[in-house]
Amino acid sequence: MTSMLHRDASATDFDARRRLGELDMVTGSAAGRTFLAEATPAGPSRSPTRRRWPPRPSGSPRAAPPDPPQPSEGARIMSADRQHTGRVAGKVAIVTGGSGDLGAATVRMLTAHGARVANFDRTAPAEPWGTDAVADWTLDITDAAQVEGAVRQVAERFGAPDVLVNGAGILGRPAPSHEATEEEFDAVIGVNLKGTWLLTKYVVPHMIERGRGSIVNFSSIHGLTGGGNVPLYHASKGAVRLLTKSDAVVYGPHGIRVNSIHPGSMRTRMSRSSAEGSPLGADEYYRQLVLGNPIARQGEPDEIAYGVLYLASDESSFTTGTELVIDGGYTAH
Ligand SMILES: NC(=O)c1ccc[n+]([C@@H]2O[C@H](COP(=O)([O-])OP(=O)(O)OC[C@H]3O[C@@H](n4cnc5c(N)ncnc54)[C@H](O)[C@@H]3O)[C@@H](O)[C@H]2O)c1
Repeated sequence: MTSMLHRDASATDFDARRRLGELDMVTGSAAGRTFLAEATPAGPSRSPTRRRWPPRPSGSPRAAPPDPPQPSEGARIMSADRQHTGRVAGKVAIVTGGSGDLGAATVRMLTAHGARVANFDRTAPAEPWGTDAVADWTLDITDAAQVEGAVRQVAERFGAPDVLVNGAGILGRPAPSHEATEEEFDAVIGVNLKGTWLLTKYVVPHMIERGRGSIVNFSSIHGLTGGGNVPLYHASKGAVRLLTKSDAVVYGPHGIRVNSIHPGSMRTRMSRSSAEGSPLGADEYYRQLVLGNPIARQGEPDEIAYGVLYLASDESSFTTGTELVIDGGYTAH
């Protein structure tokens, strides 16, 4: 039922591509002690593959995941040497979707700035973290029992979480509303909205008890605007935006800040998949989404991770219920 992997190599390239993993459990150590993590029971939704959509017809060959686009001007900017100053030193963070492109950049950013991070993902990370400050739980964030159990384990072994980053998300099959299926609706809303809510539900009591915390929910520019490609995804991300604002209102008096982050087109596999599924065709999709922007390129994962770092840190102590849009200016016009 379980397997273990100890990771040893360092990985400094935030854009290094992942290998697909099928591990139930990954352990690490911090502060001289081994920590984490019990595997959670396998269930129907615990797919080891990274993409659910479009569903692969049974019997057809497994397609190789698309290669990420080539490094860009943004990649060069983000790879410049930076001084790490411990902006979240001593904090315990839970990051969902930490094995994904933006999630992994977030995990590395938070640990580089002094946090200990629990990665909640249904797949193992592609690359070793290269630090004892990260541990991985393999779980399905749409399963309440798994989420409750994993959050309890983090609290017992790391201490109560100071930061929750709800980064896990799925795009869903591109299809207009009338062609989408009930299963597709449940899957997209399940991961993007229910998963965000479940993590909030089980993490917030720990934050209330201590009178502090920061929650960062991944929405999207597609949670601010409509579009013709993935309407269920837009709906789910719009809902995440307003769950964020409502939770900010309710939990502010408890010292808990809740903000959403809205990436534009990022240089990730999810973005590539979205472009390839567009009825416009990938080239025209990119042209409309990127080339007309004030900053006419895709964003780099670290350009999102820096936004998360700010919201997770005490630097944003007066910021709650807000939308941090990081999109190269897409929504500015
Ligand atoms: N990539 C973009 O251009 C872009 C733009 C706007 C918003 N976003 C949002 O940012 C977030 C991260 O995007 P990304 O590009 O890193 O995507 P990604 O596909 O690389 O990563 C998503 C991660 O979520 C995990 N996940 C999915 N369903 C899960 C489940 N049920 N339980 C546990 N883990 C699950 C996946 O295993 C994966 O590791 C998502 O919420 C996405 O909607 C991305």
